[in-house]
Amino acid sequence: MNPKPSVLVTRTLPAAVEARLAKDYQPRFNEDDRLYTTEELLAFAVDMDALLICHTEHMSAAVIERLPHTVRVIANYSVGVDHCDLDAARRRGIVVTNTPDVLADATAEITMLLLLAAARRASEGERLMRAGTWDSWSPAFMVGTQLTGKPLGIIGMGRVGQVTARRARGFDMTVHYFNRRRLPEELEHGARFHESLDTLLPVSEFLAVHCPSTPETENLINADCLAQLPDGAVFVNTARGSVVDEDALLEALRSGRLAAAGLDVYKNEPRVRPEFAALDNTFLLPHIGSATKETRDAMGFRALDNLDAVFAGAEPRDRVA
Ligand code: DGY
Repeated sequence: MNPKPSVLVTRTLPAAVEARLAKDYQPRFNEDDRLYTTEELLAFAVDMDALLICHTEHMSAAVIERLPHTVRVIANYSVGVDHCDLDAARRRGIVVTNTPDVLADATAEITMLLLLAAARRASEGERLMRAGTWDSWSPAFMVGTQLTGKPLGIIGMGRVGQVTARRARGFDMTVHYFNRRRLPEELEHGARFHESLDTLLPVSEFLAVHCPSTPETENLINADCLAQLPDGAVFVNTARGSVVDEDALLEALRSGRLAAAGLDVYKNEPRVRPEFAALDNTFLLPHIGSATKETRDAMGFRALDNLDAVFAGAEPRDRVA
């Protein structure tokens, strides 16, 4: 009988996922969940058949070129694969997979949380309560922007964008979207397709980004784009920080052009620019779009299904390289 394939698991995963790994593979776990340096990762990868990594592991071309020849597959515990140089993996003949579909509900929930919290000034209110400094009520006190019935622009109408659209309809929002391709009509549920951002942005009193991070989407949300939004718009991002020009966003928030922003992702995580926290009109979360028990388990099982397929000699369902 062949020995079970060995897997370097770079971060601590949910118990049920680690149990399945222990049953079917020879895993090397990261028990204290310490972020490995590149040199540690490369040293631990020696003789491994597979890597099971998160977006916190930066698999640049230089790192991939130095991986041992035993490594056949990099299974990502993430839907985003911008941390992985896919061309470099292809050159090395290493299969790369991700975990699509299973994050959509959790991430759309966080999108709704950001929309509501940014629009209704939740951060300001919460800080007041925690500081014990709330001392009066008046009709002008903490007046925010109402979501109900307003237009929501969605950039990127993949799985997360589509679930966000569904949730937003619960608030009677009218959905507009920009996507590389128009969705089939039965998936649009009345959402209006825009062929360019030039027509989407001027109607987007609320704007949510759900596109992947690619060279084409880098700094997509820049000063020009923000200037096209209606005055007092609300912007939220649960996709990737690289999609936003953070200088331009800070300027739009400071000037009041944007009423507020809700952010879960940033350019240089976890070192977020302190200017965001210094503003009252931001609501900030630490990249927790997929952080529910259900979703984190599902991501792990999906990553393991991909590994199982590779070691069974089959095509993994979520192959990206
Ligand atoms: C993803 O899956 O891309 C999430 O951002 C967590 O990594």
